[in-house]
Amino acid sequence: MAEDRHRQTSKYTLDRNMPGAFEGETVSRRRFMTGTVHAAGGIAAAAFTLPALGFAISPIFKRLPFSWQIIGTPADFTETAYVTKVITIVQGIGEAGKSIAYVRKRWPAVDTEPLNRFNHYVALSSRCMHLGCPVRYVEAAERFICPCHGGVYNFRGMVAGGPPVRPLDRFYMLERNGYVYLGPRYSVNSELQRFSPRDPGEPLDGIGQYLYPARFDTSVLPSTKNLPLPPKITP
Ligand code: FES
Repeated sequence: MAEDRHRQTSKYTLDRNMPGAFEGETVSRRRFMTGTVHAAGGIAAAAFTLPALGFAISPIFKRLPFSWQIIGTPADFTETAYVTKVITIVQGIGEAGKSIAYVRKRWPAVDTEPLNRFNHYVALSSRCMHLGCPVRYVEAAERFICPCHGGVYNFRGMVAGGPPVRPLDRFYMLERNGYVYLGPRYSVNSELQRFSPRDPGEPLDGIGQYLYPARFDTSVLPSTKNLPLPPKITP
């Protein structure tokens, strides 16, 4: 009985009466092959899955580079009308990296979102929040119109009709040294609360803000160090 128990608990396959056992062998060939096949399958699955997973979630951790840019002086802007400004949204690729922002001074009678040091000016992105077509400001109607699928935004850039899922994105703005600076883009929900920038088609109201998670790059306010110097005025 004691010998049987010893045989059962022995590490040798021969002691455990395993079919095809060899003397001195601790793992049966069947178990070894099974383990090898499982390990190979695991490696193959990881080789397919990990790159796809990394591709899917890496944008969440991506830090978007940004730099402040001078877009004019305070005298260039009024409260009641938008000025169209060509801005650089991707550095170093020339015209392809340029876009349009619609800029005006904050109008306290209309702009009721809380005042902070970055919103003394309102700068709206021209990218439609349905699928990204460029919107156009129609001054007579005080509306932003998207030509692609009929999206309409009101004077503050909030959705007034059509398929866009959230208001037009905005830019951090700053007035320093007698110049107006435009900073990185951020997104807003229908109450104009600020979120890190999302892509078109990603709603930010209700569950949308969780379905389309924030990137970590603008969860903090942008640094205002190293603002570009104003252009030198030559006499
Ligand atoms: S892209 Fe603007 S409404 Fe569709």
